Amino acid sequence: MNKANFSRRAFLRASAGAAGASLVAGSTLLEPAPLFAAGQTVAPSDRIRFGIVGVGMEGSGLLTTAVQLPGVECVAAADLYDGRHDLAKEIVGRPIRTTRRYKELLDAKDIDAIIVAVPDHWHKQVVVDAIAAGKDVYCEKPMSHSAADGMAMVAAQKKSDRIVQIGAQRTSSVVSAKAKDLLAQGVIGDLNLVEMTFGRNDPTGAWEYPPPPDLSPANLDWDTWLGTAPKKAFDPYAFARWRCWREYGTGVAGDLMVHLISGMQFVMGINEAPRQASAMGGIYRWKDGRNMPDVHTVLFQYGEIPVYVRLSLGCATPEVTTFMGSKGTLEYRGSSVKFSAQQGVDVSPSYYSGSFPAKMRKEYEQAWHAEHDPVPGKETVDQGISYTSDDYDDLKPHLWNFFQSVRSRKPVVQDAVFGHHAALACHMANESYFRKSRVAWDEATGEIKSIS
Ligand SMILES: NC(=O)c1ccc[n+]([C@@H]2O[C@H](COP(=O)([O-])OP(=O)(O)OC[C@H]3O[C@@H](n4cnc5c(N)ncnc54)[C@H](O)[C@@H]3O)[C@@H](O)[C@H]2O)c1
Repeated sequence: MNKANFSRRAFLRASAGAAGASLVAGSTLLEPAPLFAAGQTVAPSDRIRFGIVGVGMEGSGLLTTAVQLPGVECVAAADLYDGRHDLAKEIVGRPIRTTRRYKELLDAKDIDAIIVAVPDHWHKQVVVDAIAAGKDVYCEKPMSHSAADGMAMVAAQKKSDRIVQIGAQRTSSVVSAKAKDLLAQGVIGDLNLVEMTFGRNDPTGAWEYPPPPDLSPANLDWDTWLGTAPKKAFDPYAFARWRCWREYGTGVAGDLMVHLISGMQFVMGINEAPRQASAMGGIYRWKDGRNMPDVHTVLFQYGEIPVYVRLSLGCATPEVTTFMGSKGTLEYRGSSVKFSAQQGVDVSPSYYSGSFPAKMRKEYEQAWHAEHDPVPGKETVDQGISYTSDDYDDLKPHLWNFFQSVRSRKPVVQDAVFGHHAALACHMANESYFRKSRVAWDEATGEIKSIS
């Protein structure tokens, strides 16, 4: 190999073995699977034509990514704000149909699938209507705006044969897959606690987005935008900053925590709602009229395992999920996952012996060393394993997983039941915060109940 071409990536691979190699201590650079190789030969008959509903901050990113995928084509976009019709055409780069009425996309015979990227309070209606119209659906996270909405969406999926993928893209990342492998191999021993943390500290991170300067009732269908939310005079700030209010959004829980919870469900291989949630928080930093907390801490119970979550818009901290067990920690942050081993045994005589009289302490220490000291040269070396990926966009594999399922009719990685469970954790966190009470999910009645 030419020395100049011996990159850091090649070095890491050469020094630690290829990604996916069996469990060895060291550091490995992960690469996303070559997802698109098969797609490059997509037959014209397998082309998927999709329409998108909602071309805002996230919808524009979804559209930009989706139109780059082989065998996938956007033919129409719906948005209540006309400025986003122009944006959709700019992104697609050729004429597409645009409309304010999403039902026109559902009626169109040339559309196979719908991408839904409207604010949370509109998810249920668009998804239920799209399934009823026979479309496959990719819906943004959090799947639902309430537990009842989620139940209706799951019921709609279950009584149809439509593909539904929910858009918490972490479940399609190679890093998540590696974390899942490591956990399944039992590297951390018996799992006894999960901790998830994330914090931001800037106006944009706290959703204080600038409304589009030309926004007005002339170019936005404001009444329809409000949907089932209480009637309110045109408010460009509600339009741009809807996450701040419970009427439209699901707060830091639905905006941020849902990614952590979805990742945790995937890595742990579970698909269930938490049994209980107990939350605290408040509006400490952004007193701008919002009603959703900017600091939100939650203690969940999943099965028998406590899961502690700390979310803040008042102080920036990295996004980290730590799985803790009897043999060490598995820490998942951004584009890396790291296992740090722990022996779980004493490595020196117990400091409790400091409370023994001198003669007794000496005898205890001698006996301890005789029993525990390793043969020289055979000392234990703690194992550490880390995997890092380039900071790549996991939206692409997540969308690809959806479009491949649309073609193959095989299950997606994150169906409505999975998305419902992740969203339920968010609703329970919010209900507990607002009710100032511990809550539990009652599957039989489909309600979040306060418990003492
Ligand atoms: N997966 C992620 O990482 C990620 C990131 C950001 C946002 N999101 C999710 O994406 C969704 C959209 O968020 P956003 O930040 O793009 O919001 P946004 O306000 O920027 O865009 C939403 C768009 O939907 C349009 N819209 C609203 N109701 C509509 C209706 N009934 N018919 C047609 N158009 C309608 C609005 O006019 C607006 O242009 C949210 O659910 C959000 O949680 C996901």
